[in-house]
Amino acid sequence: MSELVKLSINGNEAEAQKGSLLIDALIDKEVDIPHFCYHQALGKDGNCRMCMVEIEGQKRPQIACDTPIKEGMIVRTVGENIEKVRRDILELELINHPIDCPTCDQAGECKLQDYYMESGFYDSRVEVSNKVTARKRVELGSNVMLDQERCVLCTRCVRFCSDITGTNELGVINRADHSTIGIFPGRPLDNPYAMNVVDLCPVGALTSQDFRFKQRVWFLETFDAICNGCSRGCNITVDHRKEKYKDDQIFRFKPRANKEVNGWFMCDEGRLSYKNEAENRFVTPLINNTETVFDNTVTKTFKLLTEEKNVLFVLDPSLSLEEMQNTKNLAKVLNANITGYSPQYIDEKFGDDYLKKNDRSANRAAFKELEINEDEKEFNSFVEQSSLLVILGNSYFDNNLNLLEDKKVISCFSHKCETINKSDVAIPVASFYEKSGTYINFGGTKQKVISKMKKNRPMESITSIIEHIKTMVDKGNL
Ligand code: SF4
Ligand code: SF4
Ligand code: FES
Repeated sequence: MSELVKLSINGNEAEAQKGSLLIDALIDKEVDIPHFCYHQALGKDGNCRMCMVEIEGQKRPQIACDTPIKEGMIVRTVGENIEKVRRDILELELINHPIDCPTCDQAGECKLQDYYMESGFYDSRVEVSNKVTARKRVELGSNVMLDQERCVLCTRCVRFCSDITGTNELGVINRADHSTIGIFPGRPLDNPYAMNVVDLCPVGALTSQDFRFKQRVWFLETFDAICNGCSRGCNITVDHRKEKYKDDQIFRFKPRANKEVNGWFMCDEGRLSYKNEAENRFVTPLINNTETVFDNTVTKTFKLLTEEKNVLFVLDPSLSLEEMQNTKNLAKVLNANITGYSPQYIDEKFGDDYLKKNDRSANRAAFKELEINEDEKEFNSFVEQSSLLVILGNSYFDNNLNLLEDKKVISCFSHKCETINKSDVAIPVASFYEKSGTYINFGGTKQKVISKMKKNRPMESITSIIEHIKTMVDKGNL
């Protein structure tokens, strides 16, 4: 570990690692430092010159992204001189920019717009008719659209494709103020992580084909969560909105930085999996395939648990730790068996050597922590012995419906599936992003999600249903 040294930032004493980049210290200490080309995942490039700071003893302003920290350094990011330097650079960036913020999908989360507003530089000295124009709609791949006029040529997108994915689809084409970003002929930007360039782009040059023009970002609410697309558990933000007379709807997932889990990025498949949330929802409780109300299903569940002596709980590996723990407690009280058998989530073709894992469930590691067995032999023997199966989100039976013949079945699902039609009692439950809980990823990292989705309809989580049943059991009602 390198040595910690003291420095002064805008008159405040600070500590940072000797030799580390000044811009990292400023970002980590939440000191405002405008920057386009630097990104903690991509490192320095030094092309935008926006991160200029004053360093005592240096004749000229320096770029913070290429300045190593030294003991006793005195740094200023504010002050008339340095702010004027940055304002002049911003003016250069804006010379050919179309200033089409009102119709730009990035408005509200655009760095160029933010810096422009902060700098108070309101009057343009360039006639709009003198600006160099370029193409406004260039499809770089199936999910990414480029507006060449809005690009500030920071090259973050190019460096992502060369340094992170190694796929090299993007390059800078032409020279001087005719330079643009482009793809090589016949090589669209369609790698499995391509949409990360949209988040990396500090301006509205790269937009997501899926999200663009769907919502103004200031109408969206956000909460932190994890992706449930595989056992990596990438950290994400869930952007959602409840419009009048409509359900609270998720509009996009974006990656959230967590150096231990996913760095700064996520895969496109996980990113677009938000769509599964609203599609094909199971919402009305059923008894023998006839619609009923929630209370009736709970009563019928009590009845079946009383009548049937050989009960098996079948858990899904994407349930939360709390749901698994509660079910395990209930199974113990009822003297029932419990299994987590779920081979259907292993997809040998999905994983890669970057983020994606073959296990497409979010919490299989919790089975280990709670000592819930997933063994196939034991599962088969439990199923054979059981007269009642309580299936909690596990889709294994969808392709093995024959196993449910001659059995009583209680099932809890958030989305429609074949198992529901074979159930005596089917209870709709909250989906992954509608409930809070703890998840353990493949590497053992425990992550807590607190959902802020507004309830679209009365829908219980499996935890609350199980708690409800357990209270009845404890009161001696069973
Ligand atoms: S498209 Fe965006 S990320 Fe790429 S160089 Fe231009 S401004 Fe930077
Ligand atoms: S790598 Fe896995 S957890 Fe991460 S975004 Fe993709 S599917 Fe989701
Ligand atoms: S961020 Fe330092 S030069 Fe671009």
